[in-house]
Amino acid sequence: MGWNSWYIFYDSVTDQDMRQAADAMIATGMADFGYQYVNIDDCWAKKSGDEPYRDENGVILPNANFPDMKALTDYIHSKGLKAGIYTSPGPWTCAGYTGSFRHEQQDALTFAAWGFDFLKYDWCSYDSIAVDRTRYEYVRPYALMGEILKNVDYDIVYNICQYGMDRVWEWAASTGGNCWRTTDDIRRSSSFMGLDNASHYEYARPGCWNDPDYILIGWIGGGSGKEGIPTSISPNQQYAYMSLWSIMASPLVFSGNMTRLDDFTVNILCNAEVIETNQDPLGQQGRVMKQDDESFVLAKDMEDGSKVVGLFNIAPVAIPVRIAWNDLAVSGPQRIRDLWRQKDLGNFENSYEPVVPARGVILVRLFPEK
Ligand code: GLA
Repeated sequence: MGWNSWYIFYDSVTDQDMRQAADAMIATGMADFGYQYVNIDDCWAKKSGDEPYRDENGVILPNANFPDMKALTDYIHSKGLKAGIYTSPGPWTCAGYTGSFRHEQQDALTFAAWGFDFLKYDWCSYDSIAVDRTRYEYVRPYALMGEILKNVDYDIVYNICQYGMDRVWEWAASTGGNCWRTTDDIRRSSSFMGLDNASHYEYARPGCWNDPDYILIGWIGGGSGKEGIPTSISPNQQYAYMSLWSIMASPLVFSGNMTRLDDFTVNILCNAEVIETNQDPLGQQGRVMKQDDESFVLAKDMEDGSKVVGLFNIAPVAIPVRIAWNDLAVSGPQRIRDLWRQKDLGNFENSYEPVVPARGVILVRLFPEK
């Protein structure tokens, strides 16, 4: 759980932006709900053309927006938070900044020395290095960095980013990956894009997660200037978005403007019972139990024997969505609790059929009644 700079700051990200994000993670209360990682995305290194890219010993150089990386992570750590950084296995990052090709070990040691606790490793220009499209070539750069990180004397979460190529979910964990993007960039698209991620449920487990990209709500980039513009998705779609990520046990990484968080956005990001669904120790990724043209239902087993069920409506009007105990492999009366409203709805015998708002969700937890 954390925040990433990409979808609000892109190539204008600075040390000060990162510090302000850390401050806001505390001030808004997000940290109290488990948000912890404050992650720089692309564009902190030197841009192609802006030589030198490395010092005389080959140590990678930050650009003028990042005067002192160690001071930055010290600041983030002083708030009780963790810091993340980004690079590519290719010679250049996706936005054309220095990558780690042929400096993998040296860069990993530099990131550890700077105090970074998280590394996003983004394929980008590795396209020009890979000799062919075999699995061997897809795995190679990630296995190399995975091995290096294992031997670095500092814990670094390993975030693999290559947009789902070559069924990354099948092999990412074997390279030491802790989470891996299963999809292309989400951009400012609809909340249901992440549903593609649902089919990979069997590959998720504690320490190894399918990642359908960031939570884009509140103020996100796209306009001119650094403020961003408000999300175009409706409040009900925002509930659906956060519910889907939670029930899929996906990384919860917000990537909007931390300094313009309104109460509604904070409430979407910080509902204790929704986050409990996402963070449940069993670590099961929910899966689709039922789907048609207008709706789908995901369910996730919780460690305590209860089940979280998300009833999603993809139609532009409110419709009833039904789930029978048969579809969920449960039997007997169930006490149903509405997680967004944090309210018990009573006991249900065989099925549940709420009216679900347009492009929205009803997220409930079923507790077997003895
Ligand atoms: C790729 C990644 C994004 C972001 C950008 C940065 O597109 O998928 O998440 O990191 O690169 O350039």
